[in-house]
Amino acid sequence: MKTKIINYPNLNEAKSRVKSETEFSFYSPIHINEMKELGKGKKYYIHTFGCQANIRDEETMKGMLESSNYVQTSDPSQADVIIINTCAVRENAEDKVYGDIGNLKKYRKINKKLILAICGCMVEQPEILDILINKFPEVNLYFGTHEIDQLLDLIFETYHNDVRLIAIKSKQGEVIENKNVSRNNEFKAYVNIIYGCNKFCTYCIVPYTRGKERSRHFADIMDEVRELKKAGYQEITFLGQNVNAYGKDLDEGHDFADVLEEAAKMGIPRIRFTTSHPWDFSSKMIEIIAKYDNIMKCIHLPVQSGSSEVLRLMGRRYSREHYLSLVKEMRSKIPGLSLSTDIIVGFPNETVEQFNETLTLVDEVKYESAFTFIYSPRRGTPAAKIEDNVSYEEKSRRFKELVKHLEVNIEADSKSYIGGVYKVLVDGVSKTDKNMLSGYTESNKLVHFKGDESLVGKIIKVKILESHTYSLIGEIVNE
Ligand code: SAH
Ligand code: SF4
Ligand code: F3S
Repeated sequence: MKTKIINYPNLNEAKSRVKSETEFSFYSPIHINEMKELGKGKKYYIHTFGCQANIRDEETMKGMLESSNYVQTSDPSQADVIIINTCAVRENAEDKVYGDIGNLKKYRKINKKLILAICGCMVEQPEILDILINKFPEVNLYFGTHEIDQLLDLIFETYHNDVRLIAIKSKQGEVIENKNVSRNNEFKAYVNIIYGCNKFCTYCIVPYTRGKERSRHFADIMDEVRELKKAGYQEITFLGQNVNAYGKDLDEGHDFADVLEEAAKMGIPRIRFTTSHPWDFSSKMIEIIAKYDNIMKCIHLPVQSGSSEVLRLMGRRYSREHYLSLVKEMRSKIPGLSLSTDIIVGFPNETVEQFNETLTLVDEVKYESAFTFIYSPRRGTPAAKIEDNVSYEEKSRRFKELVKHLEVNIEADSKSYIGGVYKVLVDGVSKTDKNMLSGYTESNKLVHFKGDESLVGKIIKVKILESHTYSLIGEIVNE
């Protein structure tokens, strides 16, 4: 099989941030009509790894495939198109992908016309792409995060020309509107507000894989929210690697607080957002979050480390003191605020004293939940070049100690729910017991309770009877 390279990624181009104005265009596949024929009676299988940005991209790809008559299957052996949507944020994320391709590649032997495609953040790294290409000759389509809108045309070309196609351009990126979407959930939706990242934290690959920070037009975001409201959605989550950078690249006079306020006025019952960078979280945002009942009082505020020196080396643009004073302002202005965070343990040469500063910060802030990671060097990032004097064993030890500290707070917080009545958005039915439902409180605590399947997608009241570290048990309150 011949390989056709349309574009190959390049890290130097991926990190360039030359022009500041955002380019906009509209979704317009070339082969849409032919694809409607090709997709008839055919199935696709898609497997997504990574963050909400990737999940939302999956929904776009589903929308495109369904617009050309493909139908989703959860059985890869039945599929005519298999897409693996990858994440590159840590080594273990990449390892999962290698395993997944290893499991799925056999279907190409059975079905010679199968499209086996790899996309997402992993393939944006040239050295990883080289490895994938050598290791998996079965894969016949690679496309990047900037080529999602071309999915149908790329499938068309791979199918008809029997080539292995590589279409990954490292570019700053644009905003493409009116793409199709087929959402994974009928009452909770993700809404992109800003793509990419300009922060270049020294450990992180995301700015290289996702391009520059670029905001959608305010009016386009609001149109999407309005449609979701009309369709009966109960919850929306605004997405961005850094939502509070919204609008800085546009000349429209709107910032993230305006996005929140305008959406809140439309009356969607629950509005969430992720992720917020502590560096540019404004007092105006805090005021708007406090003002509207339907903006959930949950802020995911990744701290990464409690040591100002480590934060400096990470390029995070804030100190421990700045972070703590921001938390103080948030807690004083937003009653009932629930804070969550991301923490990296074992940044190169992190000392025990610096690690202990993370422990004291965690004890002080009292997070309701946290994602903790052992530092994973990412090729091409500045931190990966630092020689590291901390062993992996020591990092694992610190990781376990950190989790213990966090769990003390999380457990105490969970206990404080007992006896209270909370609004819960019913998420689904338990896999093991169909009389058991689960859902989330406004503060994002997972609750299990007995109830009928017909309640899924509704907001109901639940009294909390029992608590575990990461979940609560309750009973429905009938009014
Ligand atoms: N944009 C978000 C996070 C994106 S990545 C933010 O800035 O908060 C999600 C989390 O993965 C990060 O917050 C960080 O804690 C973690 N992470 C990123 N790169 C990592 C690396 N090289 N090793 C370990 N954890 C990493
Ligand atoms: Fe990565 Fe930092 Fe950007 Fe978050 S803000 S995506 S951690 S570079
Ligand atoms: Fe992973 Fe890319 Fe998201 S690296 S965390 S899928 S932006």
